[in-house]
Amino acid sequence: MKTALITGAAGGIGNALAERLVKDYQLLLVVRNNRQAKSINLETSKISVCDLSNIAELKILISWIKKQTDTLDLLVNVAGVANYLNLNEITNDIWQESMAVNITAPFILIRDLLPIMSIDSLVLNIGSGAGSIPMRGRSAYCASKFALRGLTLSLAEEFKDQYPSFCLITLGSTITNFGPLSAEEKQVEADSGKAYFPVEWVADKLVQIIADKNRDTEIVLYPGEHGFGEWKKP
Ligand SMILES: NC(=O)c1ccc[n+]([C@@H]2O[C@H](COP(=O)([O-])OP(=O)(O)OC[C@H]3O[C@@H](n4cnc5c(N)ncnc54)[C@H](OP(=O)(O)O)[C@@H]3O)[C@@H](O)[C@H]2O)c1
Repeated sequence: MKTALITGAAGGIGNALAERLVKDYQLLLVVRNNRQAKSINLETSKISVCDLSNIAELKILISWIKKQTDTLDLLVNVAGVANYLNLNEITNDIWQESMAVNITAPFILIRDLLPIMSIDSLVLNIGSGAGSIPMRGRSAYCASKFALRGLTLSLAEEFKDQYPSFCLITLGSTITNFGPLSAEEKQVEADSGKAYFPVEWVADKLVQIIADKNRDTEIVLYPGEHGFGEWKKP
């Protein structure tokens, strides 16, 4: 059986993806705390608790992964933080957290897990429209997701004709608890026409993309382009 690592596995997208991959993969799931670990109900999966903003904890996580498996077929960097703030509200700590979780942790996981990536392995990074479109009040988040886009697309060039493959999902708004609005509040907005993907749609799409050997390096998914409401730039 193939092995997959998913970060952010207790979150909306990470959990929905894990539920779909569990029948085909030995899953190694990364969550932030014990409460989240207990919330996961996927019997065959193995769970590690790690604060991805902490380099020492990341190092322990990487040792744990290498103890669980000799080969990794799929690495999905899903975990992310949404620090949606104006410039004068962004403290050094908030800036550091945005960069640590959204770009540094994916970078370290890719670099340090490279020796165990299998010949047809895939690194799937969950980016955002905020990695391509500048947005007011989201500069720290945009900067981190622009960086993730640059990292992923550059590594795709560097590893052309080698492995792993790299794919960036440039994703639009999705109904999860990510950011200041709860999933319930987003559902209310979606019901009145605002553009949001249902999380199940996104997870199903990710499964299709993982299975597609001819996938593009960047896949842009905006809800308004798939029949889910109307989008206005924040
Ligand atoms: N939902 C959207 O509209 C949307 C749109 C575009 C892109 N995305 C991207 O999709 C990804 C998944 O987001 P989601 O919608 O599934 O939101 P979510 O439900 O909030 O999931 C994000 C997960 O990342 C975890 N995380 C955050 N900081 C962490 C840390 N320091 N250590 C370990 N885990 C940490 C969160 O844990 P906590 O709950 O403890 O913080 C949460 O489980 C993110 O990368 C996001 O940028 C989302």
